[in-house]
Amino acid sequence: MDNEIRKRKVVIVGAGSVGATYAYALAQSGIAEEIVLIDRNQDLLRGQVLDLVHGQPFFPTVSIREGSDDDYTDASLVVITAGSAQRPGETRLELLRKNAGIVGSIAAKISEKGCRGVILVVTNPVDVMTFAAYKSSGWQRERVIGSGTVLDSARLRYIISRHCNIDPHSVHAYVLGEHGDSEFAAWSMTHVGGISIDKYCPYCGNCEGWNEQKKWMEQQVRDSAYHIIDAKGSTYYAVGLAMVRISSSILRNQNSMLTVSVVPEGEYGLQDLALSVPSVLSVRGIERIIPSALPPDELEKLKNSAAIIRKAIEEIGK
Ligand SMILES: NC(=O)c1ccc[n+]([C@@H]2O[C@H](COP(=O)([O-])OP(=O)(O)OC[C@H]3O[C@@H](n4cnc5c(N)ncnc54)[C@H](O)[C@@H]3O)[C@@H](O)[C@H]2O)c1
Repeated sequence: MDNEIRKRKVVIVGAGSVGATYAYALAQSGIAEEIVLIDRNQDLLRGQVLDLVHGQPFFPTVSIREGSDDDYTDASLVVITAGSAQRPGETRLELLRKNAGIVGSIAAKISEKGCRGVILVVTNPVDVMTFAAYKSSGWQRERVIGSGTVLDSARLRYIISRHCNIDPHSVHAYVLGEHGDSEFAAWSMTHVGGISIDKYCPYCGNCEGWNEQKKWMEQQVRDSAYHIIDAKGSTYYAVGLAMVRISSSILRNQNSMLTVSVVPEGEYGLQDLALSVPSVLSVRGIERIIPSALPPDELEKLKNSAAIIRKAIEEIGK
C-alpha cells in the first residue's frame, strides 16, 4: 500500500444506528487515525458527528468529522452501511431491491474517485449487496468484502460458551454461507480450547441429546436478528464490534481468518456470487480464501446457500 492511503482513514457511508455504533466502537479501539461519516440525511449526520466528537477527550487520539464523496480518494477502508434497516417481519431478501441501487451507486462513486483501499459492505442482504458493490466498483474481488457471517459466528461462539460454561474466547466456531436464513454452523470446524466440539462433551457434562442441542443452537443463531428486531427494532451493538474486528485485520494487516462475505472464483466449486467462507484478511483485503475440507453434508448446505444468493442476485440483474 502506498503513502497516500497509509493514514488508516475510514469512511463510513450511512450514519444510522449501525454506522454510528461502528464509529463509536472504532474510535474506542484506537485502530483508525481518521473517521469520516457521510449520510444523505444531513441533520442526522451533523448530530451523530457532534455527539461523537464530544467523546474525543476520552477516545484514543482520532479525528472524526463529516465528509463528502471526495473523501473516498485517500481512504484505506470505506464501510457501506447506507440503506434501509430490516423491519419487523421483513426478511433480509425482501430488502434486496431497495438497497441494491443505493449500494451499487456508492460503490461506483468510490471507484470513480480513485480509492485504492478496501470496501466493506454491511447493508443487508449483505451477500447480494457485496456482489452488487463488487460489480459496480469494477475492482478485483480482493478489495470488496462483506461483513458476512462474522456476527453470526460470534453469536454461535457466545451460545456455545453459555452451553459449555466457558469463556467465548476459548470457543472457535464458524457460521458459513448466506448471512440469512440458509446459513449453517460448520460443526466440523468447531473447537473448544483446541478440542473438537463433539469430543469436548465429557468435559462439559451437559450434552444429553447433543445432536438436538446443536440444531437448537444453530436455529438460535439464525433467528437472533429476528428476536432482537422484534424486541427493539434493529440490531447494532454486536455488528458494530464485528465490523471493528474486520477493520482491525485490514488496517493492522493482521491476516486474521474471518468468515467475511467474498466472491469465490472456483473455491468450493462456486463463482458469480458472494457468500461467507473462511478467508484471511490483510491490508490488501482478501489475502486468500481457505479451502476448508467440509464434510459432504456441510458442503451441501454451502451449495444450498449459494443457490439462494445466486437467485437473489439474478433478481437484481447482476
Ligand atoms: N450485515 C449485518 O450483519 C447487519 C447487521 C445489522 C444491520 N445491518 C444492515 O445495515 C444497514 C443499516 O442499518 P441501520 O440500522 O444503521 O439503518 P438506519 O436506517 O439507522 O441507517 C441507514 C442510514 O443510511 C442512510 N442512507 C440511505 N441511503 C443513503 C445514501 N444513498 N447515501 C448515504 N446515506 C444513505 C440513511 O439516511 C440512514 O441514516 C441495513 O441494511 C441493515 O439491515 C447489517
